Amino acid sequence: MKKTVLVTGGCGYIGSHTVVDLINHGSNVIIVDNLANSSIEVLNRIKIITGVMPLFYKLDILDREGLEDVFANNKIDAVIHFAAFKAVGESVEKPLDYYYNNISGSIILFQIMQKYNVKNIVFSSSSTVYGNPKTVPVDESFPTSATNPYGWSKLITEQILRDLHVADNSFTVAILRYFNPVGAHKSGILGEDPKGIPNNLMPYISQVAIGTREYVNVFGNDYDTYDGTGVRDYIHVLDLSNGHILALDYLYKNQGQVLITNLGTGRGYSVIDVIKSYSRACGRELLYKICPRRAGDVAVSYANCDHAYKTIGFKAQYNLDDMCNDSWKWQSNNPNGYEK
Ligand code: NAD
Ligand code: UFG
Repeated sequence: MKKTVLVTGGCGYIGSHTVVDLINHGSNVIIVDNLANSSIEVLNRIKIITGVMPLFYKLDILDREGLEDVFANNKIDAVIHFAAFKAVGESVEKPLDYYYNNISGSIILFQIMQKYNVKNIVFSSSSTVYGNPKTVPVDESFPTSATNPYGWSKLITEQILRDLHVADNSFTVAILRYFNPVGAHKSGILGEDPKGIPNNLMPYISQVAIGTREYVNVFGNDYDTYDGTGVRDYIHVLDLSNGHILALDYLYKNQGQVLITNLGTGRGYSVIDVIKSYSRACGRELLYKICPRRAGDVAVSYANCDHAYKTIGFKAQYNLDDMCNDSWKWQSNNPNGYEK
């Protein structure tokens, strides 16, 4: 029988790609999103790609009554919980907003899930929970820590889910620690549309490529890496969304389990590698300037993906050129993002 999946934050960057995959894999999808960091236009794009308009509630997960109504009115089999604030720097400026939205929002959601006996949950965590890893590749047994409120909000929510499982082991939990999600849907009509100046590398580069910004600021070229710039495990958002489909399938078949796994490619690329690959994608040499290091950045981070492969059969398919080509297709087709 068709499963019904509630996707919080389903209009956001990763959520929207995952909704497309869920629909294509035969799930009914319900989206709850307050559009704090996304556009209603995403729903039309999902319909164009899949032929299906998902049921949508414009709702804040902090609105307990509103969220309860969603559970009371729908038979939900599982929840994928993306809804959160995600800007590291902003979290340092506004810790209470981050803790309230990301932790209180999660607690309200989990309480309602428990009340309505919905016990399958996939949670968006982050490689940020590894802090400054001593060695690479990073595996799931590495110590966890946080250096900012955003990171703490992920780590604390992970702990809440673990504790919830101890108290009620019918709760089946997948905690997915994403490395650096980039790229866009192959159609070029679904992608990342950050508000304001992008914090992250790939959306910043794509704005340089489209001409909104003049050059890329490279944050440091004196790291102990092969070209001195920071190295990260960039993962195509389509691989990431596939990871959610596999994790969900695992949960359905392994009731009462807690799965904690990395989602990355296992390969690191430098900032310069990404700029070069994007230059090839857009057909011109993109300008960059070397700037001081950004506070809080680590030199190198990439995933050990063995656990993801052994447990859920996950293996990333796309390489850096695919990520840049697909990002450029989205950016060049939608120079102003989802704005008409
Ligand atoms: P995003 O901002 O594009 O999507 C989040 C969505 O949640 C948005 O549509 C926003 O409007 C919604 N939202 C936020 N607070 C809400 C609330 N209280 N009620 C209802 N909706 C709310 O972010 P994304 O890049 O798609 O990230 C999705 C998840 O993955 C987040 O939890 C994020 O922390 C995590 N994550 C992202 C990255 C990344 O680099 N993009 C890396 C690791 C983890
Ligand atoms: N960088 C630049 N210039 C920029 C932006 C970034 O040189 O304009 C560099 C950074 O110094 C880093 C690399 O590009 O070396 C990647 O930076 P991002 O900001 O794209 O990504 P981070 O690895 O710093 O962090 C991101 C999210 C975190 C998340 C982490 C792992 O912002 O929230 O990925 O998922 F935790």
